[in-house]
Amino acid sequence: MSFKQDAHKLLMIPGPIEVSDEVLYANAHPSVAHVAPDFIAVFSEALKLFREVLRAPNGQPIFISGSGTLGWDQVAANLTEAGDEVLVLHTGYFADGFADALETYGAKPTQIKAPVGARHTLDEVRAALEGKKYKAITITHVDTSTGVLHDVQGIAKVVKEVSPDTLIIVDGVCSVASEPIEFDAWGLDVVLTGSQKGLGCPPGLSLLVASPRAIETLEKRSSPIPSYYASWKRWLPVMKSIENSTPAYFATPPTNLIYAVHASLKNIIEGSVSLDERFELHRKGSEEIKKGIAELGLEQLVTPETQKQDGAAHTMTAVLYPSGFGASDILPRLGQRGIVCGGGLHKEVKDKYFRIGHMGISVTDPSRGDLRRVLDALREVLAEIGYKA
Ligand SMILES: Cc1ncc(COP(=O)(O)O)c(C=O)c1O
Repeated sequence: MSFKQDAHKLLMIPGPIEVSDEVLYANAHPSVAHVAPDFIAVFSEALKLFREVLRAPNGQPIFISGSGTLGWDQVAANLTEAGDEVLVLHTGYFADGFADALETYGAKPTQIKAPVGARHTLDEVRAALEGKKYKAITITHVDTSTGVLHDVQGIAKVVKEVSPDTLIIVDGVCSVASEPIEFDAWGLDVVLTGSQKGLGCPPGLSLLVASPRAIETLEKRSSPIPSYYASWKRWLPVMKSIENSTPAYFATPPTNLIYAVHASLKNIIEGSVSLDERFELHRKGSEEIKKGIAELGLEQLVTPETQKQDGAAHTMTAVLYPSGFGASDILPRLGQRGIVCGGGLHKEVKDKYFRIGHMGISVTDPSRGDLRRVLDALREVLAEIGYKA
C-alpha cells in the first residue's frame, strides 16, 4: 500500500477520530457485490475479530449500517416490551438519549443521576436495584459529554448479586477497543458501539455483541418487535450465515466500511500491539494529557474524588476553561494551530469546558506526536490569551 492521506487538521475530538492510512485505503475498496464470496469472507472474519475485541467467545456480533445511536434502538426494540422497567445510570448527555430511545419503544426508564463529573457508587446501584425489579440496566461506559468512566465490572457484579435476571446493557460507544471490556467474564448482555471512535474507522456502522441470554430474551418476547430495520429476527440469520461464509441478505451492508472495520479489527487483534497493550497505551496517553493540562493550570470536569477512584475516562478528557475564558477564546485558536478539539456537551455545563479525544492511532502510535501537539498548541493558546496558571 502506498496510499497516504492528505494533510489535514488533527482531529482530537472524542470521535470521530484520526483514521490510519491503512484503514482509509481499505475503505476505498473498489465496488463489490454485497454477496460476493470475497466480501463475505472479509465480513465473516470481521465479525469473529469483533468478538475477540470484546472477549465475548459466546456472544453474537451484529454489524448494521447506522451509527452508535442505532444500538440504543436495537436494544430498546428487541429486548424490551411495553411497560418494562429499565434502570438507566446517568453520568451525562448520552444516558438521556438512551432513556429517550427506550421510551420511544414503550419501556419505562428510571434514571438515577450522578452529579455532573461524578459517577454512581456501587452502593447507590445496589440500593436502586433493591428498590424495584428491572428488566435491564444500562451503563454508559464512558459518557462522552463528561468524560466519566463507569466501573462496568463492579456494577455487573452488583447486578448479579442483587438482581441476577436483569440484563446488563453497556453503551460502549466511547470505550470499545480502548477501555478493557470482558464481555463473557463480566456477564454482560449487550455491548454496543459505533465505528468512529476506539475502532478507528469512519462513522457509519453500528456494531454490538449480544449474549445468549439476550437472544433468549428476544425469543421469549410476547409482543412483536416494534421496528422493521432494527429487528434482530431479521438480522440474526443474516449475521450467522455471513459468519459461516454463506451470503445472506436483509438490507445492503456498507461494503466499504466493512473492509475498513475489518482492516482496523485485524490490526487491533493481530497487529504488533496486543489488545492488553492497546488498553495500556490508552491509559498512558490519557495520563499524558491529564498531567499536561494540570501542568498548564487547567482542571478536569470529572471531580477530583471521581478521578481518584479511576473514574476519569482513558479515551477523552473534559477540560474546564480557565475562569474568565470560554470556547471562543480557546477552540478557534487551537484550530488556527491545526488542532480540532470538541466543545462542551452536557447541557448544564456546556459553556464551561471543552473535550480532547485520545483514542486509536493518536495513542497507539506515539511516533505521530499527536498528544504533544495538542498540549503544545494549548500552551501557546493560553499564553496568547494572557492566562496565567
Ligand atoms: C457514549 C455515547 N453513546 C452514544 C453515542 C451516539 O453515537 P452516534 O453519534 O454514533 O450515533 C455517542 C456519540 O458520541 C456516545 O459518545
